Amino acid sequence: MKSIVAPSILASDFANLQREITMINESEADWIHIDIMDGVFVPNLSMGVPVVEAVKRHAKKPMDVHLMIVNPERYVEAFHKAGASTISVHVEACPHLHRNVQQIRQLGIQAGVALNPHTRIDALENVIAEIDLVCVMSVNPGFGGQKFIEQTYQKVRDLKKLITTTGSKALIEIDGGVNLDNAKPLLEAGADVLVAGNFVFSSVDPKGVIRKLKAI
Ligand code: DX5
Ligand code: ZN
Repeated sequence: MKSIVAPSILASDFANLQREITMINESEADWIHIDIMDGVFVPNLSMGVPVVEAVKRHAKKPMDVHLMIVNPERYVEAFHKAGASTISVHVEACPHLHRNVQQIRQLGIQAGVALNPHTRIDALENVIAEIDLVCVMSVNPGFGGQKFIEQTYQKVRDLKKLITTTGSKALIEIDGGVNLDNAKPLLEAGADVLVAGNFVFSSVDPKGVIRKLKAI
């Protein structure tokens, strides 16, 4: 099973960000996952546009930007200019989700939609044909290093069915608590993209961990 592996730099050493990006460049990772938090939609702050611009200066892999913010339409253009290849917005933060998706696609980049653990996949029915990625949160967003929520497997199976029956091209991304125990069953359930933060960056051999995730 060939999965896309996206290390989440939220768990990286921010004081040595260039070194961490170089590690990702040299690894078998496919994307760089970047978590943007506003302290409103989620109870935490992370990084903003200048950090994404700085990562872009060194990154040789596409940047997958996960917006955990309210009113994402105010920042989509700035993250696009900063070099994002994919921008995901949260269903729960977007009363005008269809418009948000269109805004991202009109910039010529990939549009993703993220779902909190409690959000039913039905919420996607009317946009699934127009999105490139569904980010299934397998922890409650806001922090790295949390325990994987087991109901995610069933959610991924149901989502895969929705994608197949609607002919959507959307990839399924899993975000939160991913490790070598759950990666294989997640891929078997239909996942395409594995985001991994702490599992990669707290290892003494991050490139080796990425290689193992890719080898599943
Ligand atoms: C959580 C973030 C995740 C996080 C994953 O709000 O969206 O991307 O960085 O980190 P781990 O893999 O440590 O759960
Ligand atoms: Zn994320």
